[in-house]
Amino acid sequence: MSIENLTWHDAAVTRDDREKLLKQKSKLLWFTGLSGSGKSTVANALDIRLNESGYATYLLDGDNIRLGINTDLGFSMQDRNENIRRIGEIGKLFVNSGLITIACFISPLKVNRDMVRKIIGNDFIEVFVDCSLEECEKRDPKDLYKKARIGEIKEFTGISSPYEKPENTEIVIKTDSQSIDECVDKILHYIKCLC
Ligand code: ADX
Repeated sequence: MSIENLTWHDAAVTRDDREKLLKQKSKLLWFTGLSGSGKSTVANALDIRLNESGYATYLLDGDNIRLGINTDLGFSMQDRNENIRRIGEIGKLFVNSGLITIACFISPLKVNRDMVRKIIGNDFIEVFVDCSLEECEKRDPKDLYKKARIGEIKEFTGISSPYEKPENTEIVIKTDSQSIDECVDKILHYIKCLC
């Protein structure tokens, strides 16, 4: 679709105004990692701690987004790319609203994560939820690995679809050796220096 007849309108109330009102600097914390690595668990624990400390936040979660706005997308690389592109644009709106936004998506390819980094700019903070495939498969909270191993689920990340480990993320948490609290503390320490 052509964008030639569209014009960007700056809102009268700016991001700066909203951040002042909320007394915080907005960020997009981007959690990437295998299914079962603990992205949602750590993100929810972080969300609670931030709220208790008086920060205004919002959590965007892979499964929830795929049950709503991205219900038309599957798991081919093309669909995952579109999934992440849309979340990147949604994340940009949330960051503009002044909220500390937490996004949990497998986002298996570096090129897709870098696309979001480009959309958001300096306020993009990548959190690699590092957990071995072996451990994720052992946890298998939704029995998805079992189904992927017997071919009931195609293109499953880590089994029949690639996951490119991030190399230069702002934060790495290791959920197979650190507790949830330790992971949250590490992230809080990083963002409290920035907010
Ligand atoms: S992403 O690759 O496009 O970033 P996303 O984070 O939105 O994935 O969705 C991942 C979630 O979808 C997983 O937590 C899992 O519950 C579910 N899922 C269903 N099919 C697959 C699949 N083939 N590969 C990975 N996750 C899947």
